[in-house]
Amino acid sequence: MNTNALVIVESMWGNTRAVAEAVAAGIGAECTVLDVQDAPSTVPDGVSLVVLGGPTHALSMSRQRTREGAVEQGAPAGHSARGLREWLGEAAVGEAIDVATFDTKVLKGRRFAGSAAKAAAKSVQRHDLGHLVATEDFYVSGTAGPLVPGELERAREWGSHLVEISSTIA
Ligand SMILES: Cc1cc2nc3c(=O)[nH]c(=O)nc-3n(C[C@H](O)[C@H](O)[C@H](O)COP(=O)(O)O)c2cc1C
Repeated sequence: MNTNALVIVESMWGNTRAVAEAVAAGIGAECTVLDVQDAPSTVPDGVSLVVLGGPTHALSMSRQRTREGAVEQGAPAGHSARGLREWLGEAAVGEAIDVATFDTKVLKGRRFAGSAAKAAAKSVQRHDLGHLVATEDFYVSGTAGPLVPGELERAREWGSHLVEISSTIA
């Protein structure tokens, strides 16, 4: 795979996917966005930055039943089989690879305090899956979206910031 950076994304309605595309645009040309269902468990040679993004479900990373819950609430079918949690459970990521995590969650005060990004970051650290460099939340205004205005611009800037702080990316 001819890429320096990989963005692996899980998304039920497309909001997290849109953030992933914006993050990738901020990272630059040598970046590939892959749906978590198509992402290889072993990070390919040559990749030095892996960004993991998913929606916050029930205060954490999604599970099969919460993804099915999203479909029951109107999300398109076909994205429920596998999420970030499952990918992280099987992943092989070299310790020299930089890893960043992000999520989307509902902007509603502090009612929903959990974060899939923080849960994914904990999993990365617990299982020694690379070197965690950043974790960020992005906001939707309701369960199905849309993204809060300005979030795609913020995502793009965060992608550029990742390149600046990543010790590995060329
Ligand atoms: C089953 C389920 C549980 C959810 N739980 C939370 C939650 O705990 N906190 C939160 O902020 N948003 C929660 N949400 C809203 C999701 O974060 C929102 O649907 C997601 O950001 C949309 O991104 P997507 O279009 O990429 O799926 C939940 C959504 C579903 C379907």
